[in-house]
Amino acid sequence: MGDLLIYGSYGYTGRLVAREAVDRGFEPVLAGRDADAVTAQADDLDLPARVFDLDEAGNRLADVDAVLNCAGPFSTTAWPLVEACVDTGTHYLDITGEIGVFEKLRRRDAAATEAGVTLLPGAGFDVVPTDCLAAHLAARLPDATGLELGFDAQGGVGPGTLRTGIQRLGRGGIVRQSGRLKEVPAGWRTRTIDFGRGRRRAVTVPWGDVSTAYHTTGVPNVVVYMAAGRGLRLFFRAERLLGPALKSDAVRGGLSWLVDRTVSGPDEAAREQGFAWVWGEATNGSKTVVSRLRTPHPITLTARAALECTSRVLDGDAPTGFQTPAGAFGSELVLDVEGVYGFKDEDDGR
Ligand SMILES: NC(=O)c1ccc[n+]([C@@H]2O[C@H](COP(=O)([O-])OP(=O)(O)OC[C@H]3O[C@@H](n4cnc5c(N)ncnc54)[C@H](OP(=O)(O)O)[C@@H]3O)[C@@H](O)[C@H]2O)c1
Repeated sequence: MGDLLIYGSYGYTGRLVAREAVDRGFEPVLAGRDADAVTAQADDLDLPARVFDLDEAGNRLADVDAVLNCAGPFSTTAWPLVEACVDTGTHYLDITGEIGVFEKLRRRDAAATEAGVTLLPGAGFDVVPTDCLAAHLAARLPDATGLELGFDAQGGVGPGTLRTGIQRLGRGGIVRQSGRLKEVPAGWRTRTIDFGRGRRRAVTVPWGDVSTAYHTTGVPNVVVYMAAGRGLRLFFRAERLLGPALKSDAVRGGLSWLVDRTVSGPDEAAREQGFAWVWGEATNGSKTVVSRLRTPHPITLTARAALECTSRVLDGDAPTGFQTPAGAFGSELVLDVEGVYGFKDEDDGR
C-alpha cells in the first residue's frame, strides 16, 4: 500500500473519507488550505498534516503515491491537483460528479498515461454505482443504443453537494445524445420508475454518468433520472422560468451563504438509516433490459467506494490514464463495497 494524501480532508465528506482510510489501515497525510482545521484533525487522528493552497500543489506531492481529492466544487479544485499529479507522477482520484470536470480531465488522458498515473474522478456515489450498473447493462445488451440510469436516495446530502448544485442553478440539464453532450431545460423529462421500492416519479438531472457512462460503455444516448417528489419537480419548473436570475452571482452567493450557516450534513444516525436504490435500463430499440442495485446512504457509499478505488489504484490494479470506475475495475467493483446488494436483473423482452 503506497502513501496517500487526502486533500480537503476536514470537509464534511473528507472527514468521513479520512476515518474510512484509517479503518482500512491507511495512514494518510491529511491536507487542505486551512491550517487550523487540518492540524486539529491530524492531531485527533494521529496522522501527518500538510497545509497548502491549490496553486502550491506542484511542490507538495512529490513524496506521495496517490491523492484523493475531497475538496469541492471540483470545477475549482480538480485541475490544479491533476496538473500537479501529472507533473509529479502521482495517481489522482476524486469524488466529483461534475460533468464538466470529467470531460476536462479526460483531456489529460495522454499526459497521464505518459506519466504512468491513473486519473480516476467520480469515485463516490456519483458515479460508482451507476457506472457499474451501466457497464453491467451494456454487458447484458452489447448492442444497446440507449441507457437510462436513475437513483432514489434517502437521508440527505452534505453542504458541499448543495453548494455544487447551486453553481449549476439556472444552467438547465445535460443529456448525451448520439455521443454528444446536449444542454436541455432543467427537469427536461419526467418518468415513473420502480427503483426497487415501488414506483416513484423521477426527473432528469445533469448527473456525472452523462459523461462517464458513455466513456465506460460507448452507448451513445444517456439520460439520468433522480426520484423527485412534487416539491422538487416544482423547483425544476421554477428553475426553467427563473433561469437567468438564478445564474446571478448575488443569488448564488446568497444561497451558498445560507448553506454555510444552516447545513451541516446528515449525522451518523441518518447515514446509518439511509439507503439508495439505483436503477438502470438499456435498450437496443427492440429489446430492453433492466437491473437494480441497493446501496448504503450515498455519503457512506462515497467514503467506502472512494477508498476501495484508492486501494486498488495503489495496489497497481488500475490502468494508467483517464479512467471511469467501472472502466478501470469492471462492473463488479460496486459489489465489493460493503453494504451494496445487487445486481438484480429483470428482462421485459420488449
Ligand atoms: N460523488 C459523490 O457522490 C459525492 C458525495 C459527497 C460529496 N461530494 C462532493 O464533495 C465535495 C465536498 O462536499 P462536502 O459536503 O464534504 O463539502 P464541505 O463540507 O463544504 O467541504 C468542502 C471541502 O473542500 C475544501 N475546498 C473547497 N474549495 C476549495 C479551494 N478552492 N481550495 C482548497 N480547498 C477547498 C474546503 O476547505 P475550506 O473550508 O478551506 O474552504 C473543505 O475542506 C462537494 O463538491 C460534493 O458535491 C460528492
